[in-house]
Amino acid sequence: MDLRDEARKAQQTARDEILSSKSLDDLKSARTKHLGRKGVLTLLLRKLGQAAPDERKELGRLLNEAKDELLGLVDSRTDELKQATYASDLTGESLDVTLPGRKFRTGRRNLAVEMMNKIVDVFVGMGFTSVEGPEIETEYNNFDALNFPAWHPSRDDHDSFYVGEGHVLRTHTSPAQIRVMKSQPPPVRVVVPGRCHRRDTPDASHLMSFLQIEGLYVDHDVSMADLKGTLAAFAREIYGEETKVRFRPHFFPFTEPSAELDISCLVCGGKGCRLCKQSGWLEVLGCGMVHPNVYKHVGYDSLGVTGYAFGMGVERVAMLKYGIGDIRMLYDNDLRFLSQF
Ligand code: DAH
Repeated sequence: MDLRDEARKAQQTARDEILSSKSLDDLKSARTKHLGRKGVLTLLLRKLGQAAPDERKELGRLLNEAKDELLGLVDSRTDELKQATYASDLTGESLDVTLPGRKFRTGRRNLAVEMMNKIVDVFVGMGFTSVEGPEIETEYNNFDALNFPAWHPSRDDHDSFYVGEGHVLRTHTSPAQIRVMKSQPPPVRVVVPGRCHRRDTPDASHLMSFLQIEGLYVDHDVSMADLKGTLAAFAREIYGEETKVRFRPHFFPFTEPSAELDISCLVCGGKGCRLCKQSGWLEVLGCGMVHPNVYKHVGYDSLGVTGYAFGMGVERVAMLKYGIGDIRMLYDNDLRFLSQF
């Protein structure tokens, strides 16, 4: 076989190997094998000297063309193989950087807590100070000092969580009245937001754990008219300017006289509908003038002061405002429901 045939054959073999290489490593060894320093084509070039002088020129051209062609093929095959590697890297990748990001939900306060803060704001705007009391209360503060007689049904352990000798999970925020008055001389003007507990079976209007806000204003010459004006302003602030109020006689051990505050029905405006059970009114909270026996328990009895108190269930205030029929929905953590507000 003459050198020319040898060159053509070597070129063909090299071409086949380069084109059929499956990886960059394969390609690299094919390149070394055929075009490297000791490669087939290189050795042939070195043999040029052996060729007859008249053939040498043509053979040289042939070999150089072969080399150029093969180097070109190596380059293009390198590109192809790199592309294929990128593509398979991408398919194997679990993170698709082209997808839109997942939306991060920001949390917010529960509707009842928002309402609690709102109510506190309204009273702070009217000169009240916001204070807190403990959830574990003495039985004395929770009941006795508030003039609950020993036989009062609320003291029955069916209604309260007793926690050790003489202590109870407060059943209302009213015991804070005792703490505040014992800790300072009059005048007193506070609101007390906080969690309360009762041994109730949960239903549409009861929970074992719920929020209340207590209010207390004690000074010289505080009258029922002050109470009415303040609570009417509160009702208009929460439920709207057109809201009418009425005070209905009631009984609480720690106030005398006592009343319940009703607002004009938010659905029918007072005409009578299903929500207000045709009465035109919705019950909102309890209130009254502080009972003289309470002043005795806190040492205010000789000071000649008068005052009013009120207490409301925060969830109830929110339920009326937003037309929520079941208190449990506030705490079911159903975002489809809660995110409406
Ligand atoms: N503590 C009462 C309750 O939980 C609510 C209440 C009524 C508070 C009248 C008061 C008040 O301060 O004067 O049912």
